[in-house]
Amino acid sequence: MKSNDADLKVKSELNKYKNFFEDYLNASSELRNKGVPHNLFEAMDYSLFAGGKRLRPVLCLAAAERCACSITDALPLALGFEMLHTATLIHDDLPCMDDDDMRRGKPSNHALFGETLAVLAGDALLALSFEYPLCHSINIEPSKLLRAMRIFSSAVGPAGVCGGQVLDMYTAPAACDPNYVRKIASLKTGTLIRAAVTAGAALGTEDQNILSSFYDYGTHIGSAFQIIDDILDVSSTAEELGKTPGKDAEQGKLTHVSVYGIEKAAKMAEQETKLAKRAILKLFPEDDFLPQFTDYLLRRTY
Ligand code: IPE
Ligand code: IPE
Ligand code: MG
Ligand code: MG
Ligand code: MG
Repeated sequence: MKSNDADLKVKSELNKYKNFFEDYLNASSELRNKGVPHNLFEAMDYSLFAGGKRLRPVLCLAAAERCACSITDALPLALGFEMLHTATLIHDDLPCMDDDDMRRGKPSNHALFGETLAVLAGDALLALSFEYPLCHSINIEPSKLLRAMRIFSSAVGPAGVCGGQVLDMYTAPAACDPNYVRKIASLKTGTLIRAAVTAGAALGTEDQNILSSFYDYGTHIGSAFQIIDDILDVSSTAEELGKTPGKDAEQGKLTHVSVYGIEKAAKMAEQETKLAKRAILKLFPEDDFLPQFTDYLLRRTY
């Protein structure tokens, strides 16, 4: 297939998953709103609707669909992943963390609602990200839902996003070890992306071989994703990125660019992309979307 045709095909498949997700997000408003103080709901919804790429829900839905779980049945978990991710972004932008006033092309949550409400909106989204899929995944067998939620919960915990954010904020003692930056990325970003893929698959199958190929695919895309995020921080603009560029150097962060330089970092992202593709093609040699989506993510500009 010519590369233009392949690109169009990936975009159309991506839009299919995104549209399912956006429609569901809109339709879920009443369920998410029940009993919630007005200003808290407003702050939570502000960030949820601020227009992210929806990478994690798309991956969750695509993996589920390939493992005999329908898109419709996987939507509550996909929404859980986006709520969880959005919570981590609200907290990541706080003055005590990366101190960024812009997110997804808009004022970040604390810049608009103040720090107190931003902390609480992040907490509330985090809690709801567990409650929501547990209460609304009504067609999923309990053993499969339990496994998916185990994968989900370990991704955000101390050996996942929270641990990674701690390493990211307190890098000095280990900064001389070049592998350390990979560890930070794998915890703060990789665990959630890998979990979206693996938990999505776990909604439909208990086959260990299938789950482990999805695990490898998610690991490598997660790793490429943070490398590209680090490169875009030094090479892109606020208009394109929707967040403040140059933040990492300004705050002395240990990133793939600060440790390896742009060129080597770009090569590493290519290598991770190849490994992701290999892992998924082993499982689905005929699949177009999941392998080609890795190239799409490698070439992303925001
Ligand atoms: C940003 O994630 C934070 C990282 C883990 C690098 P995304 O780039 O997926 O952010 P949105 O959801 O599109 O805004
Ligand atoms: C954020 O990493 C990872 C999480 C939100 C857990 P970054 O700090 O690099 O993300 P951006 O660049 O602000 O989106
Ligand atoms: Mg950060
Ligand atoms: Mg940040
Ligand atoms: Mg970044």
